[in-house]
Amino acid sequence: MAIETRIIQPDELEIAVQLLRQGECVAFPTETVYGLGANALNTKAVQKIFQVKGRPADNPLIVHIYNKEQVQELVIAYDPIVDQLMERFWPGPLSLILPKSDRVPTVVSGGLDTVAIRMPDHPVALALLEMVDLPIAAPSANLSGKPSPTRAEHVFHDLQGRIPVIIDGGPTGWGVESTVLDCTVKPFRILRPGGVTYEQLKEVVPVEVDPSVNHAVVVDQPRSPGMKYKHYAPNAKVIVVKGDHAPQIINQLANSPEYQHLKRGVLAVEENLHLYPGMIVLNLGPKQEQKTIASRLYHLLRQADSIGLDVVFVEGFTDDNVGMAIMNRLRRASGNQIIQS
Ligand code: TXA
Ligand code: MG
Repeated sequence: MAIETRIIQPDELEIAVQLLRQGECVAFPTETVYGLGANALNTKAVQKIFQVKGRPADNPLIVHIYNKEQVQELVIAYDPIVDQLMERFWPGPLSLILPKSDRVPTVVSGGLDTVAIRMPDHPVALALLEMVDLPIAAPSANLSGKPSPTRAEHVFHDLQGRIPVIIDGGPTGWGVESTVLDCTVKPFRILRPGGVTYEQLKEVVPVEVDPSVNHAVVVDQPRSPGMKYKHYAPNAKVIVVKGDHAPQIINQLANSPEYQHLKRGVLAVEENLHLYPGMIVLNLGPKQEQKTIASRLYHLLRQADSIGLDVVFVEGFTDDNVGMAIMNRLRRASGNQIIQS
């Protein structure tokens, strides 16, 4: 049954606090993407998140906190070096997977004996978490399978009629979801790359990157259940072309019999916008500015749909630093259609 969805401002947080205390879901901004939050200690409230998103029940949620002391009730004994990661990267886009305590309902962990925890670096998220003073389970506030929302209007587009309130905090900063680091294996393992990079983590602790991050490996038992679902995909077909000759290859493909009659678009870096005559070209940002590119990516993939593109070609990037997160999302959005030129 449809309910009215209100968009509220950050000075009206009390409304959201009351709803969360009553076991309702609320969408709120973080520094990565918008989250769909509910009281992590209330099974019924968390079940609503899965219903609203159409999310498979075995895909666990990240628990959001505003204060490191909240970690203690959510976990059992963990490697003490994790404290250094919290010290260095929190608040920030790093979710830590730790052995969970019995306080965390199984619905949150998707049946696993671990829980992912993070402290978001966003004034509105932190204020909300502090006011409600509960750990808040929150996946990205999109319909399952769609690109994560980086603006309140994206959340409204996907979840209108399904949730009572969206807190509008403007466009999010990072634009890609947090780095997910499994701290229950040695070496620690990046299950999803994000704003806190492999290069930065390596300075604190030995880490490795899960093979599924950079390659299309078919894994029966992925370490992170989220890995097995196609993600971040617009309706348009996405084709990524990497390498120095990307513009030539994209033009060739776009004008080939397979695609020439379709509505075609390109996501290109600013320097290359002029290289695609006759196509709809969307600006990812300057080539060297990985953070700008990450922050625009989901918005542009959603724009490809609102324009009604049938196929969208995307210039690919190198896998270093934030490039690892960008390429990981493009790999998923394209169903691994990556061409090396
Ligand atoms: O930036 C973010 O992380 C955003 C904002 C809202 O905080 N949240 C987010 O949540 O992206 P979600 O649910 O869309 O993605 C969580 C990812 C999924 O891939 C899930 O499988 C993985 O984290 N995950 C969560 N708990 C896990 C656990 N205990 N073990 C392994 N993977 C886990
Ligand atoms: Mg998500």
